[in-house]
Amino acid sequence: MNAFEAIYERRAARVFDPDKKIPPPTMEKILDSACQATCTPDGVWPWKLIVVRDKETKALIADCASETARLIFGGSYEIFSEHMWYMPKDTRLRVAEYTTSGELWRYPIDADVVVIPVLSRGGWRGGLASLLPHREQIAPYLGFASENMWLAATAFGIGAGFNAMPMQDGRRREVLHEFLGIPPSWESNGAFAFGHSPSARSGGPSRPPLEGVVFSGTWGSGYKRLAFTEGFSDLRMPDADLFETMADINLVKSFAPGQVERWKIERTIDSGVWGPTPENAKNWRFIIVNDRESKEFLYKLVNEKKHTPFLYNDAETQNARFWYLNPAERMAKIEEALEEGTGKWYLQADTLIVVVSALHNWLEMPHAEYTSAARNPNYPLSTGCSTQNMMIAATTLGLGVNFDPTPIGDPRDKETFTDYFNIPPSWQPIGVLSLGHPGAPLDRPPRPSLESVAFDEYWGNPYKRVS
Ligand SMILES: Cc1cc2nc3c(=O)[nH]c(=O)nc-3n(C[C@H](O)[C@H](O)[C@H](O)COP(=O)(O)O)c2cc1C
Repeated sequence: MNAFEAIYERRAARVFDPDKKIPPPTMEKILDSACQATCTPDGVWPWKLIVVRDKETKALIADCASETARLIFGGSYEIFSEHMWYMPKDTRLRVAEYTTSGELWRYPIDADVVVIPVLSRGGWRGGLASLLPHREQIAPYLGFASENMWLAATAFGIGAGFNAMPMQDGRRREVLHEFLGIPPSWESNGAFAFGHSPSARSGGPSRPPLEGVVFSGTWGSGYKRLAFTEGFSDLRMPDADLFETMADINLVKSFAPGQVERWKIERTIDSGVWGPTPENAKNWRFIIVNDRESKEFLYKLVNEKKHTPFLYNDAETQNARFWYLNPAERMAKIEEALEEGTGKWYLQADTLIVVVSALHNWLEMPHAEYTSAARNPNYPLSTGCSTQNMMIAATTLGLGVNFDPTPIGDPRDKETFTDYFNIPPSWQPIGVLSLGHPGAPLDRPPRPSLESVAFDEYWGNPYKRVS
């Protein structure tokens, strides 16, 4: 399937035919696509997947989901009708009938396979110390993997739906963690259901016009779509295969000079906007940065890391980071990293997109824990899904891509960063996506095998490949 088709046709499925199975090799290709996702700058994939087919587990997940949904939505129609803001008023009551009871969230029970995505709660070795403890910064990496699986399922005609509900209530999350054997240093925040959907959900919630979610230069400065400036006369969509693109995101460590056509940047962001978000909250904002001063600011911010003890300027950390190289190559890379520093690409890229995720839920949710990032990484996870769409779109459009969370890895840098771009405290940047004509490719470790990131039925039980 064409990559853009997958991005625009992907929908959250919530109804599954319990009698129809996904051919195991197809499901495995969906799982394999998670392994194509990019790793953190210190060369790790901070997530695991538990592949559940067992009926008893699915039933427990469904019970936890519907009970939690009843807790959240059952009590107050006011809350629930806000949640359905995008529906006409007269449909809201009808929908509320089957949703306030929690029934809607039972769908994992009918799914053929439920994948439990599990996120690390922190670094498990001497990684980039200031990055890994911040779950809002590692959650996007699970978002990259999740979006790949969602798009792959779409391409195979398989329905997929991320259901955060079973893990939203702390007590039920504990029960499920114990049942699945998830250790305390890891945490799951949802259940990803896959199966045959009787009918494709073609419509689905709307997306805002870009003016609503995109800023120019700094937070709050308006963005004007090309439709209102130069139009779309040059728009030629490439015919790129989804799987080939996911397997070969055009990650670069440098950019070649030259301006990128504006429509390619706009199309990239539009692809991001069509990513999934919890409650269709559209919990992201994108700041487009083109000016030289901001690029220099970012370069300085990340490059000074080379003087930071325990972080960049630390042989152990750099040694761990290049784990995939033999000792001689590793030494050369460490020297290069410490000498050259990092972030030159900020000066070379045509456009930077500062990706920002909401910190709190602004719907009338009764409890701060639900969905908001302070406690729960689902907002940055979904922002990661959107970022993955953008990386796929930019790759198909022939652009080089670099996603960097390090400008905000250190809490002090994050303050400087949010001050500079005028980002309010209720929002948090998750990284900067640099786009431009590709230069040198990024050095990256080999992708993990599925067996190294996935378990069958419960934590620790090795995944067995079918193909
Ligand atoms: C992190 C995350 C959590 C989600 N949680 C739920 C959920 O609990 N129940 C549900 O039915 N859909 C859930 N969704 C799906 C969203 O409701 C859906 O993506 C959004 O409404 C946009 O619709 P679309 O994906 O069909 O375009 C979740 C999506 C994400 C990314």
